[in-house]
Amino acid sequence: MSLDAVLSRIDDDLPNALERLMELLRIPSISTDPAYHADCQKAADWLVADLKTLGAEAAAHATPGKPMVVGHAGDTGPQLMFYGHYDVQPVDPLDLWHRDPFDPALEETDQGKVIRARGSADDKGQLMTFVEACRAWKAVYGTLPARLTFFFEGEEESGSPSLIPFLKDHAERLKADLCLICDTGLFDPETPAITTMLRGLLGEEIIITGSSRDLHSGAYGGAAANPIRVLTRILAGLHDETGRVTIPGFYDGVPELPETLRAQWDGLGFDADGFLGDVGLKHPAGEAGRTALEMLWSRPTCEFNGISGGYAGDGFKTVLPSKASAKVSCRLVGTQDPLAIRAAFREMVRAQVPADCTVEFLDHGASPASVMPTENPAFEQARQALSAEWPKPAAFIGSGGSIPIAGYFQSILGVDSMLIGFGRDDDQIHSPNEKYNLESFHRGIRSWARILDAMT
Ligand code: BES
Ligand code: ZN
Repeated sequence: MSLDAVLSRIDDDLPNALERLMELLRIPSISTDPAYHADCQKAADWLVADLKTLGAEAAAHATPGKPMVVGHAGDTGPQLMFYGHYDVQPVDPLDLWHRDPFDPALEETDQGKVIRARGSADDKGQLMTFVEACRAWKAVYGTLPARLTFFFEGEEESGSPSLIPFLKDHAERLKADLCLICDTGLFDPETPAITTMLRGLLGEEIIITGSSRDLHSGAYGGAAANPIRVLTRILAGLHDETGRVTIPGFYDGVPELPETLRAQWDGLGFDADGFLGDVGLKHPAGEAGRTALEMLWSRPTCEFNGISGGYAGDGFKTVLPSKASAKVSCRLVGTQDPLAIRAAFREMVRAQVPADCTVEFLDHGASPASVMPTENPAFEQARQALSAEWPKPAAFIGSGGSIPIAGYFQSILGVDSMLIGFGRDDDQIHSPNEKYNLESFHRGIRSWARILDAMT
């Protein structure tokens, strides 16, 4: 009965909730770019003020990077933490956006209304689904359903450099029975999901240097080492003809998919053709003999995210560059050890650098994969709550993406996480024209109200 009152309140308040989200979306809190440092502070302050309207005691805690927002509210029931991130990805290439990324708008599309703005889906819109559910709950009951700790980070998109020390320093005040994280997606537009496996992530940059300056490719070409040739040969050797990664020991700790999980995933009826078709592709490009879903959720990868060197501008320049570089990231699964893989990768690269060249490596972070404890009763409670809200029953799914913080909550605080989010595959997160469906926002808020009701 009272849950119905909370759900009605959410429906009635949706225009105001949307206006609040738009305010947050107007703040360009890009964490990787130092030019937006003050905006990150502003987004943190905005969240503190908003949490205070829920009666929370909240503050933005300074770190060497971006502030961490921590708020506490509610005085009975289980101790639950909620995590989201208020930082967003850079917007480039800006000319591919059809509107200002920080001037959010509700747009009518063939799949209904969408909120268009950087950060709408990743992660401000998702973060606000939980805050709005709490607001409606408070309006109806005058209290909150649990003892809640809100924890909003501003460095998630730049590798969370301040996170580990912050968790260690504030372990006591962040203790919780369970952490709820809203930074993942639906299985499909009608099927809500609890993400039970996340891939880990290893980031490496390789810089090959040859001659002491750029050279004329006729005057020196043939005799002088070319760092682009050295680099591309190394990169090309990182996979064999079956798509397997060739770094020694790379597959140590990669488990075969258990039969029960394979059967469960088969039952999801994943549309691999549609998934690739939506982005103009047809053929799954991972390891031979694996399904597309395995390639995304349970197999590791080694991908190249950027490569540079020489002259790539308009026209043509006959140059042998003195440097060439590549950014490489590996998604990890099972118990693959990111540091062991980094060491093996560097050794393998070093062994292929010819006498006239040198190699330098930059560390862009390393975090292992994580698996969530689905035997915790909260997972079944949430599954039923989600199934009541959406057209189809909720699924337990894997994820190709990485949320290293889920692993840190477990290893540093001893707190398990439950990952529930409402994003869609076509939300264009990290790309131009990011959007969040109004339905994701609305049903997302309603979902959290139902989940909190089921858990408390
Ligand atoms: N929200 C994403 C993670 C995600 C993506 C979950 C797709 C489910 C589906 C998150 O903000 C993100 O992009 N994480 C980074 C890792 C981080 C260490 C830079 C990623 O996965 O690349
Ligand atoms: Zn995110």
